[in-house]
Amino acid sequence: MNALLRKIGFSLPIIQAPMAGVSTPAMAAAVSNSGGLGSIGVGASDAETARGMIAAVRAASDRPFNVNLFCNRPAIADRPREAAWLARLAPDFLRLGAQPPAELREIYTSFVADDAKLTMLLEERPKVVSFHFGLPPAEQIAALRDAGIVLLATATSLNEAQAIAAAGIDAVVAQGFEAGGHRGVFDPDAPDDRLGTIALTRLLVLRLELPVIAAGGIMDGAGIAACLALGASAVQLGTAFVACPESAADPGYRAALLSSASEHTVMTTAISGRPARCIANRFTALGEQAEPGMVPAYPIAYDAGKALNTAAKAAGEAGFGAQWAGQAAVLARSLPAATLVAELRSEMEQALSRLAENLFINQEGEQGA
Ligand SMILES: Cc1cc2nc3c(=O)[nH]c(=O)nc-3n(C[C@H](O)[C@H](O)[C@H](O)COP(=O)(O)O)c2cc1C
Repeated sequence: MNALLRKIGFSLPIIQAPMAGVSTPAMAAAVSNSGGLGSIGVGASDAETARGMIAAVRAASDRPFNVNLFCNRPAIADRPREAAWLARLAPDFLRLGAQPPAELREIYTSFVADDAKLTMLLEERPKVVSFHFGLPPAEQIAALRDAGIVLLATATSLNEAQAIAAAGIDAVVAQGFEAGGHRGVFDPDAPDDRLGTIALTRLLVLRLELPVIAAGGIMDGAGIAACLALGASAVQLGTAFVACPESAADPGYRAALLSSASEHTVMTTAISGRPARCIANRFTALGEQAEPGMVPAYPIAYDAGKALNTAAKAAGEAGFGAQWAGQAAVLARSLPAATLVAELRSEMEQALSRLAENLFINQEGEQGA
């Protein structure tokens, strides 16, 4: 019996990843209505915008869904470093017919310092809340738990997963290095073993009592079956949903994802200030030339990243976008979210029965030998 699915109340072991700026209430509702768990990412939204997104999911679904928060350490401004980074980006702005911003701001408030968002969540009580980039303080966790909310948190290592278990979180998202979008590392300046999804999922299944949700590079039912075979209770797919009509991805991002460009992805800090996996483009190339320590802190660097992309788009250039995608992005499909979930389910069932069939044939062969 799958304790995680029972606890939350969904029937398929498929979670649509929260993707701030890309996943939408319509996407989350479609996935939850199809038996999976839909998610909205509100890490980049203020409390009232997030409340509106929760209401929009509820208007389209009465099923459980997940609300995702960023728990990064609030940024420490470093004006000389920010000015040097803007000077570095200035030629690109000028070439695109724009001026770089005069200065950079911390464009999102981390949940760890956002009392308004906590209050809103305690009033709205979504069934599930998940944390990325670390954990909030114990009091915030206790308040959400006391409100009956099921809590999930991302880990990229055994250490982070152990901290998640010790904090009383209900399940851990094992995010492999293959994953698209921001790596959920607690401390972006700490050494990183860059564990892949198979290694990390299996390690956490064996070492933790908590249910494990595998994430990173999973694009179809065979990938889901493989993760269930590793002992994962569910899987979380992000890139697989980016090209759905319900996604907020812009035309340039969709085109890159659905072209051979998505055969190449790169982990870069240049766009936002934290490591994130992106389709190789002009921005990731620029990042590869940046000296270590040049990029300002997250999310201050993202202020510059978004401004450069806005300037590029105005000039008809799509290659400066935050085109987040995992290593298997080239397998992305452009299907309505409900159709995609139905296909993932039937592929998963086929993969599991193929596996059983092959084992049976092998056993027969051995008996006959
Ligand atoms: C476009 C995009 C945006 C993402 N935004 C978030 C986010 O806001 N919060 C979060 O916890 N994870 C986010 N992620 C990471 C996913 O939760 C997940 O770890 C990842 O998508 C799994 O790898 P895959 O993309 O290969 O499926 C994002 C991923 C993508 C592709």
